[in-house]
Amino acid sequence: MGMEFVDLFNQWASSYDDTVAGKDPEYREVFDGYEEMLERLAKLSLSPVLEFGVGTANLTRKMVDQNKVVLGVEPSSEMRRIAKVKCPEAAIYEGNFLEYPMLQSPIRSIVSSFAFHHLTSSEKKAAIVDFHQRLEEDGQVIFIDTLFKDKDHKSMLIKEAEQAGFLNLAQDLQEEYYPYLEEIKEMFVEAGFEVSFEQINKYAWLIQAEKGE
Ligand SMILES: C[S@@+](CC[C@H](N)C(=O)[O-])C[C@H]1O[C@@H](n2cnc3c(N)ncnc32)[C@H](O)[C@@H]1O
Repeated sequence: MGMEFVDLFNQWASSYDDTVAGKDPEYREVFDGYEEMLERLAKLSLSPVLEFGVGTANLTRKMVDQNKVVLGVEPSSEMRRIAKVKCPEAAIYEGNFLEYPMLQSPIRSIVSSFAFHHLTSSEKKAAIVDFHQRLEEDGQVIFIDTLFKDKDHKSMLIKEAEQAGFLNLAQDLQEEYYPYLEEIKEMFVEAGFEVSFEQINKYAWLIQAEKGE
């Protein structure tokens, strides 16, 4: 469940940091301001943190450098191998948003960058319900990910990618499970969160969801 992209990430792991650094023109705008975005998310997080889809541990590293205790979950073995080298201080477990080890630690922040869109709508809903149960009373979910404002916005981004000759990006935008803003807002509200959204580059949004009373 929610694991269909793992082979892709095993193959991408060794060149992933080049992509987020802007070396692949096709994905440059997707990761525009990557380091600053992750720094901002890291500062917003409250320790102890549970991070999903740690990838090569770029966000993990920033949170650990801020003296936060981070428990990471990552399904790709290649990503985990690199993450453990780059951030040996963090505990990084095999798992995914829906299946991860029973962790005894209280969790005040659940964070993730560029990963939640790998879940289908029903998987996202189930994960958000689990986040609410897993978090402490003052807990929050803080995500950065691509989402679409609405159908027109989705069509516009796909068209622009095609016109630029970015056919892989255009395909990703159609085939991965990037949500519409209203759809994901409703999922958080139904699960008992107060949620806010802020667009931080052409594709990425900061999503902050606080556990309600
Ligand atoms: C685009 S990378 C983002 C990595 C890192 N968070 C960053 O900001 O650079 C997406 C990551 O999500 C992981 N992933 C894919 N499906 C997942 C799932 N169902 N649950 C958790 N992580 C998943 C991938 O293996 C990959 O490491």
